[in-house]
Amino acid sequence: MALTIEDISVFCKKKGFVYPNSEIYGSFSGFFDYGPLGVELKNNIKNEFWKRFVQQREDVVGIDGTIITHPNVWKASGHVDSFTDYIYRCDKCKVMLKGDNDKGMKCPKCKGDMKNEGVFNLMFTTQVGPVKGNVSYLRPETAQVIFADYKLVQETARMKLPFGIAQIGKAFRNEISPRDFLFRSREFEQFEIEFFVHPKKVDDCPYIKDFESFKVNILTAENQNNNKEHVEMSIKDIIGKKIASGWQAYWLAEYYKFFLDFGIKPENLRLREHLKEELAHYASACFDIEYKFSFGWKEIHGNADRGQFDLKQHMEFSKTSLEYYDEESKEKVVPYVAAEPSQGIDRAFLTFITDAYEDDKKRGNIILKLDPRLAPVKVGVFPLVNKLNDKAKEVFEVLKKEFNCIYDKGGSVGRRYARADEQGIPYCVTIDFDTLNDKACTIRDRDSTKQVRIKVNDLVNVLNGLLSCKVKFEEVLKLEV
Ligand code: GAP
Repeated sequence: MALTIEDISVFCKKKGFVYPNSEIYGSFSGFFDYGPLGVELKNNIKNEFWKRFVQQREDVVGIDGTIITHPNVWKASGHVDSFTDYIYRCDKCKVMLKGDNDKGMKCPKCKGDMKNEGVFNLMFTTQVGPVKGNVSYLRPETAQVIFADYKLVQETARMKLPFGIAQIGKAFRNEISPRDFLFRSREFEQFEIEFFVHPKKVDDCPYIKDFESFKVNILTAENQNNNKEHVEMSIKDIIGKKIASGWQAYWLAEYYKFFLDFGIKPENLRLREHLKEELAHYASACFDIEYKFSFGWKEIHGNADRGQFDLKQHMEFSKTSLEYYDEESKEKVVPYVAAEPSQGIDRAFLTFITDAYEDDKKRGNIILKLDPRLAPVKVGVFPLVNKLNDKAKEVFEVLKKEFNCIYDKGGSVGRRYARADEQGIPYCVTIDFDTLNDKACTIRDRDSTKQVRIKVNDLVNVLNGLLSCKVKFEEVLKLEV
């Protein structure tokens, strides 16, 4: 039986990854709370994104802006006028759904005609201060705070084109019909980068040579128009055929590779080019990274070419120059957003947990095969029997200062291994009677169930290698004492 999104949401609740918000009040549609394991996994995902795309790069810097901003930001960005969906109502089934256009819609339940109720702005409004009518919005994307702060960041961090500004934070959309668990919620997190280049250098990406032979699955606009499937294509061909610009293709490749590097199965990933009629009001080209969920191929990441739209709008509305003096050409230019990698953190979370979930009939339990760098708990420490508690606690006290560990002495060791598998714990350390004499213990690998006996004194070093993915378990097997 294929894994459904309901299976994932039930599993997430049962294990303490994600709960429906306000469940004691009957829950609140479109809102979710992350539990003890969920918050760790989500933080690890955010940290890995931030590490790779901000800290390890010289051309990207980060900010952490506010959720509520000056309302003119949203007038300038076009969200007040254009961030809308069509609402359709089915009087018979009493449901409201989002439509793609005003051309009518059938109810998916009763198949009857739905009533077009006009358009609905997806921004949440909020009153600021005590004065009635002093209204602003909860940000529907983190991007606009980056544009509003663009000049300050460029000047204070002394950034030169091409460069990016990144932000991770909450975004809010009053979705008409939130659905598919975390996939479409009303409060979520985004990790966005606005990557600014000289307007005449949209193709001049110096890093592209590292990705030229990198292959991706891609569903082009042309193939969609001809009812064809996605094909495999190299980044070189994507640029050569002018499907995407150099900088946009590069950033798409970087994120596609991130998902592969952290264990997503290649057959479950693809790029999809937006059709002209789908493009958002600010975009001249857009691509999604899609994941093959049980409910179909769905967007987990978007990347738009926003051109000069946002900076020009903010220049006009704020009456402030956001031009950049280009020393090479000795001219002032409005920087061009050649790529906007926009990553939903909750969708990344859903992708990683779905792809890692394996119902192992032989073992009789679920194994969450998360990459060790993402796993919420890194190490489980077990005494073989309760008599060995003191020694095992001693080991636990050392390890917990280095890694997020749990101590488990409840039930048989087999049962404890199964529980650890379901939490995605990559390595379990067991203290047995021999430990008292030989000062060694076993490490058990979650995915293969193989075990290796090593000195307790070497544990921190060995686990560090394994958990950072710099050392493979096969290599540790050679250290057996
Ligand atoms: N700044 C561009 C932007 O916001 P988007 O395609 O509307 O573009 C970017 O959103 C990403 O944000 C999506 O790829 C998705 O991962 C995430 N996202 C958008 N709406 C969401 C929702 N209602 N629930 C969860 N994630 C959402």
